[in-house]
Amino acid sequence: MTFVTRDNITDQVLEVFERTPDPRLREVMKSLVKHMHAFIREVEPSDHEFEQACEFVVGLGKATSEKKNEVILASDILGASTLITLINNVKRADAAGRMKTESALLGPFWRKNSPQYLDGSNISHGPESKVADQAFEVTGCVRDPNGIPIEGADVDVWHASPLGFYENQDEAQPDMNLRGKFKTNAQGRFSFKSVRPAGYPVPVDGPCGDLLRQQLRDPYRPAHVHYMISKPGYQVLITQVFADDDHRLHTDVTFSVVESLVGKFQQRTGPHEVGFELAYDFVLQPGEMLFPAPPIP
Ligand SMILES: [Fe+2]
Repeated sequence: MTFVTRDNITDQVLEVFERTPDPRLREVMKSLVKHMHAFIREVEPSDHEFEQACEFVVGLGKATSEKKNEVILASDILGASTLITLINNVKRADAAGRMKTESALLGPFWRKNSPQYLDGSNISHGPESKVADQAFEVTGCVRDPNGIPIEGADVDVWHASPLGFYENQDEAQPDMNLRGKFKTNAQGRFSFKSVRPAGYPVPVDGPCGDLLRQQLRDPYRPAHVHYMISKPGYQVLITQVFADDDHRLHTDVTFSVVESLVGKFQQRTGPHEVGFELAYDFVLQPGEMLFPAPPIP
């Protein structure tokens, strides 16, 4: 063993990591250290900057609670979450190259035990339900890559209010408002009623907010509906469908908007019709049904 120098420290660390029995952990940690050391050599942080970086990471933990996951938020606003999703979208194509519906971020607001509803039910039960011109009817069909409808798939949906708040952020909304699970029928179809969601800022009261302000970034996301669609024998599809008329489609603070996930939020135009409709269909890929850990209870 030679003494550590600025020039040989990266190789010394990699040599130690070489002994890791788990091949994937070995690969991930070696690559992490190679890139981290290259980053440090490039920016040459001062001791004070290193302290600030450590404080930022500690702050992510401190700002994380049952209501908010600041670690996921940090990954989102750095574009890391979406990059991982985009890479895995390609991997999920089947042998014939057929893609399922593209995935998008789970986000920090999914709750596992939302209520089960009958097809066509209304999931809006708070004061927002009185705003008639924001009425929202959502329909969709779930199919396999051959176009065959999938019956009995679970369609778990959640979205923000017309004021841009999830129920767990808003004392005016009842528990589990604007969230629900639906089952597809024999034609693979589901539908529900709600209110049109608005775009909203990501939480800016933690270290991620400090960073966004220093970078002069708009903290808003465009309006969207979250979906998690599952059935045994298929990969769980986690995605979002974005409002086509939202002016923030190209400035989403989490970099989530891929073209295929923009849905037509159609305004109703009949003499007695108000509100909006969204029709968006989904394709599941056969595979193992694995659910993510809920970011909040
Ligand atoms: Fe969201």
